[in-house]
Amino acid sequence: MGSHKLSVSLDSRSYSIHIGSGLTKAGDNSLLLPRLRGNQGVVVTNTTVAPLHLRRVQEWLAAGGYESTAIILPDGEEYKNHEVLQRLYQEIFRAGIQRTGYICALGGGVIGDLAGFAAATYMRGIDLIQLPTTILAQVDSAIGGKNGVNLESGKNLVGTTYQPRVVISDVDFIATLPERECLCGLGEVVKYGLLAGDDFISFLEMNQTEIMKQDPRSLASMILSCSSIKVDYVVRDEYDLLGVRAVLNLGHTVGHALEKMYAYRNLAHGEAVAIGLVCALALSVAMKSLAEPSFQRGLQLLKLYGLPMLLPMDADVDEIIDLMRRDKKANHGLSMILLRGLGDPYLEANIDSGLLRKTLERCKQPLMAS
Ligand SMILES: NC(=O)c1ccc[n+]([C@@H]2O[C@H](COP(=O)([O-])OP(=O)(O)OC[C@H]3O[C@@H](n4cnc5c(N)ncnc54)[C@H](O)[C@@H]3O)[C@@H](O)[C@H]2O)c1
Repeated sequence: MGSHKLSVSLDSRSYSIHIGSGLTKAGDNSLLLPRLRGNQGVVVTNTTVAPLHLRRVQEWLAAGGYESTAIILPDGEEYKNHEVLQRLYQEIFRAGIQRTGYICALGGGVIGDLAGFAAATYMRGIDLIQLPTTILAQVDSAIGGKNGVNLESGKNLVGTTYQPRVVISDVDFIATLPERECLCGLGEVVKYGLLAGDDFISFLEMNQTEIMKQDPRSLASMILSCSSIKVDYVVRDEYDLLGVRAVLNLGHTVGHALEKMYAYRNLAHGEAVAIGLVCALALSVAMKSLAEPSFQRGLQLLKLYGLPMLLPMDADVDEIIDLMRRDKKANHGLSMILLRGLGDPYLEANIDSGLLRKTLERCKQPLMAS
């Protein structure tokens, strides 16, 4: 199959996103790799991804004349911290990487964020190649330049915006991804559906079987659509200063609160986002901005992809609201991205806490019409 190419136009920081199957197979990669400043670099990955994909990627880089040293980090969100970052800097230095060197991030969002931050700051910035290997990373975290590490006080509190030189989303990586991780990525995909509206929702409705079977062509089309939606927001607000990128948080305000409430255990990020989407849809209806048929279509889409849809019975709704107020993006008010229609998101900054409480309680019961 051919590959798709998407351009991210950001003046001198512009780059391409390539999406397709077989993109990182050894062979001619001159069309994919941009002219990097030098040919010495490191591939940053983790203990799970390395045995699955590292050799192939290093061979692929070598075929283009790029030397690489592998740096293998422990796997897990808990390692996205300053301690591991320090180790990463030291290993990059030990590999002899100079200002003209490059970092290739091979992994999911955790590796992408860590390696991206290292690339942004090592010797004041070196070339970065993003090779995302999860659905979530291909549709979201590898695009847009945000990177960072967690502090004990919260996730992603330290980081920069630093664009990669290229993103290569090879859908073949997805074949080894555990089912639960696929599901988490699909939560984000459904979010893009709700943001984009009818065309993409229809695509997701009609191609569900192929997507779940991981047919490369369908996966690539899906990732292309999600990537272009994200790119559209990124180019209009690269540094997230204008509030344009805020709508990408659809489902995330309640999602983040749920993740925090369960101390990042039991509920994975994508699962929390899926439940957050149900809550955002339900609140949009409660605030009379979304019509019932659109609400039901949104719920159907989540169901079609096997995503969780019920707020856990033991979830303390007052705690969720409290956590929402303290969300780093909330400015202490109660705000949320809601929908006026499918494909028509907006920031609602004046949410009545009583209505929100009632709506969240309702989300503990099935809301889909039978
Ligand atoms: N920078 C951004 O704009 C942005 C956006 C969204 C999320 N994020 C960050 O992304 C992170 C979550 O990313 P994620 O969901 O990709 O999680 P992850 O990076 O932890 O990957 C999930 C799991 O899948 C494994 N894995 C990755 N690729 C695999 C493959 N091809 N085969 C088998 N296993 C594989 C990983 O080792 C890990 O165990 C969070 O830290 C979040 O803060 C960043």
